[in-house]
Order: sequence, then C-alpha cells, then structure tokens
Amino acid sequence: MLEMKTRSFLCNLSIAVVFLAAYLFTSSSALKQGQICVKDSNCDAGLHCETCVSNGNLRPRCTRVRPLNPTSKVKGLPFNRYSWLTTHNSFALLGAKPGIGSVLLAPENQQDSITSQLNNGVRGLMLDMYDFNSDIWLCHSFGGQCYNFTAFQPAINVLKEIQLFLEANPTEIITIFIEDYVTSPRGLTNVFNAAGLRKYWFPVSRMPKNGGDWPTVDDMVRQNQRLVVFTSKSAKEASEGIAYEWRYLVENQYGDGGMKAGSCPNRAESSPMNTTTRSLVLQNYFPNNPNIVEACKHNSAPLVSMMGTCYEAAGKRWPNFITVDFYKRSDGGGASEAVDVANGHLACGCTNIAYCKANATFGTCEIPEASAGPTAAAGNETGAASLRSRVSFQHWGLLGTVLIAAFSS
Ligand SMILES: *[C@@H]1O[C@H](CO)[C@@H](O)[C@H](O)[C@H]1NC(C)=O
Ligand SMILES: *[C@@H]1O[C@H](CO)[C@@H](O)[C@H](O)[C@H]1NC(C)=O
Ligand SMILES: *[C@@H]1O[C@H](CO)[C@@H](O)[C@H](O)[C@H]1NC(C)=O
Ligand SMILES: *[C@@H]1O[C@H](CO)[C@@H](O)[C@H](O)[C@H]1NC(C)=O
Repeated sequence: MLEMKTRSFLCNLSIAVVFLAAYLFTSSSALKQGQICVKDSNCDAGLHCETCVSNGNLRPRCTRVRPLNPTSKVKGLPFNRYSWLTTHNSFALLGAKPGIGSVLLAPENQQDSITSQLNNGVRGLMLDMYDFNSDIWLCHSFGGQCYNFTAFQPAINVLKEIQLFLEANPTEIITIFIEDYVTSPRGLTNVFNAAGLRKYWFPVSRMPKNGGDWPTVDDMVRQNQRLVVFTSKSAKEASEGIAYEWRYLVENQYGDGGMKAGSCPNRAESSPMNTTTRSLVLQNYFPNNPNIVEACKHNSAPLVSMMGTCYEAAGKRWPNFITVDFYKRSDGGGASEAVDVANGHLACGCTNIAYCKANATFGTCEIPEASAGPTAAAGNETGAASLRSRVSFQHWGLLGTVLIAAFSS
C-alpha cells in the first residue's frame, strides 16, 4: 500500500516536473529587461542573459545589449544631434587567436566581432592601426610599434566587415576613430580603398569647422557619405583628406583618469570640453586595464552619472559618442541605456529617446507606462529583489500547486 502510494506519488511528481519544465520553457521565451533568465534566447530581442557579480547581482537577468535606433525615432536631424554607441579597441576581442606568431598577450576589450557589434547598434569604432608585416594591422601595443604578440589582425579584414555592413544597411552611418601609428606613405588611404570604403567617405570639406551643425543624417544617406573617419595624426588631414579628430570634437580623459566621479577633464590632445567650436562631444568611460568582471558595473549607473558630469563640463552638451569596454556588459540598461538617454536629450529634449514623439516640437515627451521600468540606475540584487520576487512568485506558486497535487493523490 505504502509502496503503491510512493509509486503513484513519484509518477505524479514526474508528470508535474514535465509540466513545470514545459511551463518554464514556454513562459520564459520572451522575458523583459530585468527578469531572471537561463540563457540568451529566453530574453526579448536586443537583450541577453547575464549576471553582474561585481554589483551584487548573482542571478542572471535579461539585460540590454542594443540601443534604440535614434534616426528611426526622430528623423532628419544634423549628425551632431544624435548619440552613438562606441566601442573602445573594438578589434581587441576576448579569446582572439594570435594573428601571427604563436602567442597574443595584448589586453582585450570587447566580446564579439565587429559585424556583431554593428548588428547590435554600435556605430562608433576605435581602431588602433600600425604598419606591421608589410601591411596595416590592428594591434593593441605600446611605443608606437606593433609586435607579433600584440597584433590582432590585418586592418583590411575589419574594414571589409564595415564595408559589408554599410552596403547591406543603406541608411546607417558609421564613425571610425583611428589611433594612428601608420607612417607608410598613404598607408591608410590604400587600406581603406582596398576595402571598398572610399565610396562611403564623408569628406573633410563638409565637416563644420567652427562649431556649426553637421549635415543632416538624411543628407549623408542621400549622398552616400556614410563613413566618418577621424585620425589622431593632424598632418593626414591635408595630405590624405582624413579628418584630424580634435579639430572636430572634444573628448574627455580616457582610462582611470576619466572615471573619477564628479570630474570630466579633457584628454591631452583635445581642447577643453567646453570648446564649442568643436561640434561633437565624445565621452570615454573605461579603466586603464580592461576588466570584464567590473564592466557591467562601470557601464551602468556610474556611466550615466558621469554623462551628467561631462554634460556640464562640455558647456551643457550631451555626448555624441559614448565609448566603453565590453559594451554588452551591464547591470540594468548599460551603455545602450546611456545612449538612449543622450539621444533623448539631443534629439527631442526628453530624458530618453523612447519618450520622443514623432513630429512633435522639441521638449514634447510621451512616457509610456511600460517603459517607466528598470533603467541604468535600477538597483542591484537588493534593489531588484521586489521585481525578482514578483517574477519568480508565479513559478514557485505553480510548483507548490503541483507538489500539493502530487502529495495528496
Ligand atoms: C613573428 O611571426 C612570424 C610568423 O609566425 C615569424 O616568422 C617571425 O619570426 C615572428 N617574429 C618574431 C620577432 O618572433
Ligand atoms: C571652460 O572651462 C574652463 C575650465 O576647463 C573654464 O576655466 C572656462 O571659464 C570655461 N569657459 C567657458 C566659456 O565656460
Ligand atoms: C511625420 O511627418 C512625416 C513627414 O512630414 C510624415 O510622413 C509622417 O507620417 C509623420 N508621422 C506622424 C506619426 O505623424
Ligand atoms: C545595492 O542597492 C542598495 C539599495 O538600493 C544600496 O543601498 C547598496 O549600496 C547597493 N549595493 C551596491 C553594491 O551597489
């Protein structure tokens, strides 16, 4: 009798487990931001499943990896009225194989390929280019020299990925920031030409020199001038028609020096942040040594907070480029959320691009109730506890019901 009861219980339990598994599987196929997940495919589009241990969030939750496309929300503004997610050392990928030789010892700053980054809405790429191995290479090196052990890959590979993306996405605009160590004559010109990128080139002659507005994004798209390239070598503007970065934008200090709460100094090569004769503002926010564990924390509330500090320092200007390491890592909204916030302020005068109203006058905002939820500032494990308990209550409630049913049979 007892044995039969046990067998019947086990049978019911296994049925219950099957049902529960089916329920969890189907109910978790489109989780929203902040909800507990098991794997990326559980989450809605534009989200992935991760923890942020350094911020105290030990359970994997769906987090943002993709900003909203600002030009689909507010159309036709000058280029400098939008903000773009930018990756620092975009090419220095985690787990990259040595491009040459047998060992790669360079620090790594990002997790996915350039193509994947572009598909996730990254529109600014920081690329370090060197003369190396009779070619132009992407290296994360020192002393202006690339070595076998600091060489990632030939630049042309990545430039071709960019070319393919521009070709497949005829309304998208990409900006490249070259940390330029190339001294071979016309080295950069040759590699961009070889990658088929010349036809997308935005000419230096059309860049505003005195703080004026850039051409509109519509105009850039119509003329197919959808690739903006900056170099760190001033002489190449005259010699090769590649814009000298700090003639057109201001940029705050990179590395640890740019992460001190409450201050936003310019980097040495840039004019002071409040120099309004430079139409574009770039905000760096990443430590000297790339840190994938801490990145989720850095890319969240502290990034948004620094954006406020840099806004003041830059003469009340929001950043056009927000540059981070490990852009996919976040706790809350991350760098994607920061870009949405900057775009809201820049494009329509709202606190998030999601709140911009089509064709409305600047400052007319529409805050949908559903999206008033988790933001970059949303809490850690403690702060998120109420959300989580709401989410998992359903599951535990169901489990409880089936267990009671199994026991009482
Ligand atoms: C760099 O790698 C190449 C290809 O493996 C090799 O021929 C060359 O000797 C290496 N150079 C140094 C300095 O190790
Ligand atoms: C710009 O910022 C500097 C400090 O970096 C300050 O001394 C100067 O007064 C500011 N200029 C303007 C026009 O606000
Ligand atoms: C906004 O304006 C454009 C062109 O003026 C028009 O095509 C579009 O339908 C308008 N959108 C809305 C939501 O009113
Ligand atoms: C977590 O959130 C709580 C409440 O919002 C806050 O007091 C605490 O400092 C936060 N801890 C960390 C590590 O951010």
